[in-house]
Amino acid sequence: MCGIVGYIGKGDAKTVVLQGLEKLEYRGYDSAGIAVIKDSKIMIEKKKGKLKNLENHLENLDLESHIGIGHTRWATHGEPSDRNSHPHFTEDMSIAVVHNGIIENYATLKSELIQKGYNFTSDTDTEVVAHLIHSIYEGDLFSALTKALKLLRGSYALGVIHKDFPNEIICTRKDSPLVIGLGENENLIASDVPAILKYTKNVYFLEDGDIARLTADNVEIFDKTLVPVEREIKVIEWDYEQATKGGFPHFMIKEIFEQPKSIEETLNRRIHDGIIDFSDVLTEDEIKKFNMIHIVACGTAYHAGLQGQYALREISGVNSLVEIASEYRYMNPFVDENTLAIFVSQSGETLDTLAALKEAKARGAKTIAITNVVGSTISREAHKTIYTMAGPEIAVASTKAYTTQVIILQLLSIYLAEKKGRISKEKASDFIKELYSVSEKIKTTLDNVDIIKDVAEFMKDKHNGFYIGRGVDFATALEGSLKMKEITYIHTEAFPAGELKHGSIALIEPGTPVVVVAMQTNLLEKTISNIKELKARGAHIVTVARNSCLEAKEVSDEFIGVGEIDDVFSVLLAVIPLQLLSYFTSIKKGIDVDKPRNLAKSVTVE
Ligand code: F6R
Repeated sequence: MCGIVGYIGKGDAKTVVLQGLEKLEYRGYDSAGIAVIKDSKIMIEKKKGKLKNLENHLENLDLESHIGIGHTRWATHGEPSDRNSHPHFTEDMSIAVVHNGIIENYATLKSELIQKGYNFTSDTDTEVVAHLIHSIYEGDLFSALTKALKLLRGSYALGVIHKDFPNEIICTRKDSPLVIGLGENENLIASDVPAILKYTKNVYFLEDGDIARLTADNVEIFDKTLVPVEREIKVIEWDYEQATKGGFPHFMIKEIFEQPKSIEETLNRRIHDGIIDFSDVLTEDEIKKFNMIHIVACGTAYHAGLQGQYALREISGVNSLVEIASEYRYMNPFVDENTLAIFVSQSGETLDTLAALKEAKARGAKTIAITNVVGSTISREAHKTIYTMAGPEIAVASTKAYTTQVIILQLLSIYLAEKKGRISKEKASDFIKELYSVSEKIKTTLDNVDIIKDVAEFMKDKHNGFYIGRGVDFATALEGSLKMKEITYIHTEAFPAGELKHGSIALIEPGTPVVVVAMQTNLLEKTISNIKELKARGAHIVTVARNSCLEAKEVSDEFIGVGEIDDVFSVLLAVIPLQLLSYFTSIKKGIDVDKPRNLAKSVTVE
């Protein structure tokens, strides 16, 4: 939610900041802006809309400088506009600030500052930070910021510059991510690693409350008590190329096609010599002790949690509850030291999930994060972390992160089942073989997308539709429906296949699209009956099922076949055509598929 970048060094700050912002647009694209220091003056340019608008505006402007900060915004306080864009600044143009997060007590601070004579030019919470630092400033920017932080409530990653300190950027973070990139005679700050990968792979992940001072050749970090600290330098494993489109027209399709590889890498990370290993996150004693597993997440990650719950029940016989993170913390959850609480988050930064984690931890649960981003806030807050190996996911709609989250939860279910003596070693190794066969089977779907493109042609003119499935197919349908909504703006809803007739079937008219997921063998006959009920009312049936499922083929208007797979893992094949269907429908509608309206990749507000 909002992306910030800062640069100080031998290069041209404007170029580096704009390149960085391009990699962070997934965090918001309501407006973009940049501030540099040139000839002892702060110069600021900002534009409403996507980064391209700012880039066009800057084309003929001379902003050459060795220091700059930039921002791409996802609006919270104040409409998207030039005026509300960051950087925000003081009236005398001495201080400029970029901010990711929310200043919760901004209204009180604002009225105090107005009483002191400060004039505000935006509706944002961030502007108070600039004026507040100014009101405290006595010739030392670092010290003014540290004093201002004591008065701020909320979440923030901040980058601050002052015209009288043209050789330093000050930055800090609390509950919002911030990394420092360490280059040669240049240093950078950013909300996320892809923004700085072109310049360096060596980074510091700041801890909550850290404040840092960057010059071109030095980085000093202080903890929240202002004691100088050494943070470990992490070397990023993936490279800049992985954060580019690599020949694909969009990140989303690239990421869909990367799934065979990301699934294999996630399996390889956890399976050694044919044996699943989670001993780094769970001890044998803990496995015996836990009588309940909570899986907590938002959106697509929540849907991965539902798949995990099914695997836990079917394979390991373990009782579990899946909850939406924004509800969990306020529902007075039954969670204690006998609960294992698992938090699933691609970004590792989702505020709702983070808050839920803190709640479970405070009530004594053992917490495990499943995340894709090394060093993310959730990974640091949890007792233990399991990393998915999806690589950077840039498209706003999650695809490869989802399938790798599902794989981790399925592996965990097999691991627990074996440890609890519920399945034999042989059975566990059969499951593992089945999971290893998934990548090749996905490739077959990816090689045959024409039928999916045809269905997309039909979908593109529809305004609403349904996704249905029985058992865990319903969880798969939920994910398919969310994907369709977020990138095509077609209103779809997912239902357990037997539930439509209890009311919502009234919405079916001739031509209403109904996407059916029919992968549960023991429920197939029932699902087919539901298809017939819908067809009798004119619905246009698009079924995703095994190629061999002739019964489903016969009753469907369109049939998308996938390979053979154990029912319990079926989502790994069934979700691929659903992702592709949304993608192709979005393209046919001319939507900016990687950056659909109103969304952002990383949701760091409640
Ligand atoms: C949908 C999507 C979102 C995220 C949700 C949680 O495609 O990406 O629903 O899954 O916002 O985000 P993370 O996983 O980063 O916590």
